[in-house]
Amino acid sequence: MDTEGIRQVAEKLKSSTRVVVLTGAGISQESGVPTFRGADGLWQNFRAEDLATPEAFEKDPVLVWRWYDWRRSLIQPLKPNPGHYALADLEKRIEDFTLVTQNVDGLHKAAGSKHPIEMHGSLWRVRCMQCGTDFENREVPIDIPPRCETCGGLLRPAVVWFGEALDQEILREIYRCLERAETMLVVGTSGAVQPAASFGLVAKKAGAFVVEVNRSKTPQSAFFDVSIQGKAGELLPHLVEHMTQ
Ligand code: OAD
Repeated sequence: MDTEGIRQVAEKLKSSTRVVVLTGAGISQESGVPTFRGADGLWQNFRAEDLATPEAFEKDPVLVWRWYDWRRSLIQPLKPNPGHYALADLEKRIEDFTLVTQNVDGLHKAAGSKHPIEMHGSLWRVRCMQCGTDFENREVPIDIPPRCETCGGLLRPAVVWFGEALDQEILREIYRCLERAETMLVVGTSGAVQPAASFGLVAKKAGAFVVEVNRSKTPQSAFFDVSIQGKAGELLPHLVEHMTQ
């Protein structure tokens, strides 16, 4: 383990009042959440990129819902891991703390993070295609295709699909935080999907000290101030622990 790197980052965090953390699929890997692109992310030979689209839902909502029902059934029994808990702990120690996640699994909230910005939505919310109502739904299995209790319209998962725009208000809020961050952690994300892939660079350009925590090197590692290789579930608790020393 890169103890020197961890100590350096812990010192930075201790002296920072404004911190942003961006997480990706890597933080949930140790909880057992299947990755998006890896072989374990495949479902009956469909790739996520072919199912998580408005076109796929329009063509065959039952097929898309069966896939989401499968993902919900896989994730429902899973628990947050020490990485999620360490970030919930970090939040309590930093005056102005923002957690942005690309994950839709809800594990940050389950770990006690107060206001994670779930920029790609949540597997545990649904939205009516007809009246637009957006509400929590944790039924597993879900009745397929699910219908809105208010208007009878078709419900869709309240997640951002490929080819869909992100909520502009949420994005503005994220950029506001990036622009003023003193320290940023980029945890368990490959940096393959925009706009999240550029968040670390935006913060760095605005003057933040940016740290990557990832099991492997990524194409962005070289641009950050520090890049620590290892499992988020091991490194993040060490980081928070060092802050108290
Ligand atoms: P990826 O699956 O692209 O990348 C996961 C990253 O986590 C990789 O860089 C791994 O090296 C790293 N990793 C894996 N296990 C780890 C561990 N235990 N500790 C630390 N790092 C670990 O996932 P994302 O970058 O999150 O978008 O993917 C971004 C977006 O692509 C997703 O939100 C989703 C997908 O298309 C939408 O659904 C819109």
